[in-house]
Amino acid sequence: MGNLIELMKKEKATIEKYLDLYLESLHIQGVLHDAMKYSLSAGGKRIRPFLAIAVSQLLGKSRELVMPYACALEFIHTFSLIHDDLPALDNDDLRRGKPSNHKVFGEDIAILAGDALNSDAFSVLFEFGEGNFQKGGRFFARAVGGRGIGIGQTKDCTIPESERTVEVLDDINYYKTAMLLIAATAGAAAWLDASDEKIAALDEYGRHIGLAFQITDDILDVTSTPEELGKGVGVDAMLHKATYPALIGIEKSREVAARHVDLAVKSLEVFEKNDWRDALGDVATYILNRSN
Ligand code: IPE
Ligand code: IPE
Ligand code: MG
Ligand code: MG
Ligand code: MG
Repeated sequence: MGNLIELMKKEKATIEKYLDLYLESLHIQGVLHDAMKYSLSAGGKRIRPFLAIAVSQLLGKSRELVMPYACALEFIHTFSLIHDDLPALDNDDLRRGKPSNHKVFGEDIAILAGDALNSDAFSVLFEFGEGNFQKGGRFFARAVGGRGIGIGQTKDCTIPESERTVEVLDDINYYKTAMLLIAATAGAAAWLDASDEKIAALDEYGRHIGLAFQITDDILDVTSTPEELGKGVGVDAMLHKATYPALIGIEKSREVAARHVDLAVKSLEVFEKNDWRDALGDVATYILNRSN
């Protein structure tokens, strides 16, 4: 695991270099550029691009080929965070240890910067990408639009407390969070022309780490501090959000997340054991034990 943290740190530096390169290559003007750059360069764990890179190495493919796809995922993720923090959604003033985008640039520019990052994720794919657009592009598009994050966030905002069961929660968490992680794993494999069997295994892996990821995020919202997390805490309770801790308590939530982690690790068994398979297994455990 110590190894994984080192590896993530090293890859994060490369990912951030490419994020900047792609953004600057688009030559976006003025304050819109500044607002996009502010959130894109604010840090974060970069777990989605890291997963895509790890998958490329697991499959023995080139990093060059995966980099536009990996960075496009982070464009989408950053857009989703900017919009998630808006007063109309979670009304969160802190993100990645800095004032949220709308606190710096105003709601109007934050909405527009989110929109532009969403669309320019596709600019990055189309202008710099050379992967399998048919297979990988489909995965990507499905995860980020109305059949993915869009509907997930809509369900997050609208499903009344009286209708919340663990099945309903899994459904919300699948769309709002797991699908992008599936795009980062199975989608990256599809972009890199992997076999259907490998794509299916990574789909399973992505789904389990995705569900575990959101449960842990919801636990940290109860147990952590803004200093540690770099974002607001207690937000979910205040907004009566649909979360595992609210429904079944912290301890049981941890158990469910741990089960997903075990299943995620198991789904990697179709791959030959090597350092990158181990790294992906460690990511699943890291997702459960992370402190931010
Ligand atoms: C937060 O994602 C939003 C969720 C889907 C729970 P991350 O925890 O990956 O946020 P960053 O990118 O590290 O800031
Ligand atoms: C975020 O869920 C899901 C997204 C798709 C952005 P949260 O609302 O719990 O994420 P945080 O806690 O604000 O990062
Ligand atoms: Mg939210
Ligand atoms: Mg939020
Ligand atoms: Mg949260």
